Amino acid sequence: MTSQRVTITDVGPRDGLQNQPKILTIDERLMLVRAIATAQVPRIEVGSFVSPKAVPAMAGTDLIFDALAAQSSFQTPTVALIPNMKGYEFARDAGAEAVTMVLYASDGMAQKNAGMNMSEAEDVTVDILRQANQEGIQVIATIAVAFECPFDGPTDPTIVQRTVGKFLQSEVSQVVLADTIGAADPQQVRDLTSTLIKSHGGERLGCHFHDTRAMGLANVYAALESGIRHFDSSIGGLGGCPFAPGASGNVATEAVVMMLEQMGFDTGIDLPLLLDASDLAQTLTGAVSGGRSKVWLQTQLQKQAL
Ligand code: COA
Ligand code: ZN
Repeated sequence: MTSQRVTITDVGPRDGLQNQPKILTIDERLMLVRAIATAQVPRIEVGSFVSPKAVPAMAGTDLIFDALAAQSSFQTPTVALIPNMKGYEFARDAGAEAVTMVLYASDGMAQKNAGMNMSEAEDVTVDILRQANQEGIQVIATIAVAFECPFDGPTDPTIVQRTVGKFLQSEVSQVVLADTIGAADPQQVRDLTSTLIKSHGGERLGCHFHDTRAMGLANVYAALESGIRHFDSSIGGLGGCPFAPGASGNVATEAVVMMLEQMGFDTGIDLPLLLDASDLAQTLTGAVSGGRSKVWLQTQLQKQAL
């Protein structure tokens, strides 16, 4: 029997904030990370180590790591996104326990995002893995544009299958399929995830969906049906990639958790506290919440409080 436990990584403090018109201060970013951790989210992507010229909102991610390390009560596993070896070195020096290295299913996206082609990004990942293994740091490999690329069009699934196969044979802790621009449909998701799970099992596979075409939750369900038990999502549905035209918010963590828990899955997440974190994300960024379930959830909580 496949597991009823589903593990969520909230990527809001990275994917969510990197694309906001309003750049948050380090203290504001920390408040958001702490609020998400208070809701018992099992893992948080707290920022990225990328060029501050390319993504000004992520400058100072090392200060976030410093502050969390100094807080003994903060026990949530954290991740930093990196685009290259330099990012790995910054993340390691900041004390990150895990890094998300970005791979690509198209050369167009690889070039725009990291100034490399697909195979150069793979080679760098192999080098990072070798070093990370020696240094005791986990590597998650996220394949960007796994379904469609804003520059090169629909992704050939065999490219994703090959990349997944190659990296699952290595020491990566997880391979995540990212629908960077939110273009996938549930049938496509079901086909790709079930093929991958047949070959490799689902334990080290995850999915990362954006909700651009309002198919995010349906895509989570399709992947779940195939046996995927790890998802990235973003508090308040914040999200987007500055280098992928048309990318909008990730599927909202509160919507994913509500759906999973209602279906009898166990996320370990405290939904009322998650809604507090979502309110905070909204207050800090001024962005409209992307999760449509929130209004209904808040009404239920108010009724219970009466
Ligand atoms: N962190 C911080 N600075 C970095 C860096 C990193 N990981 N990698 C490179 N740099 C710096 C270089 O030192 C150089 O600085 P300088 O201009 O002061 O000399 C500058 O960035 C450009 O480096 P270069 O190696 O010539 O690469 P590039 O211009 O092709 O840029 C990236 C490549 C990856 C650094 C840049 O495109 C980037 O950071 N992109 C962000 C990707 C991202 O966050 N996407 C969204 C999430 S997937
Ligand atoms: Zn994303």
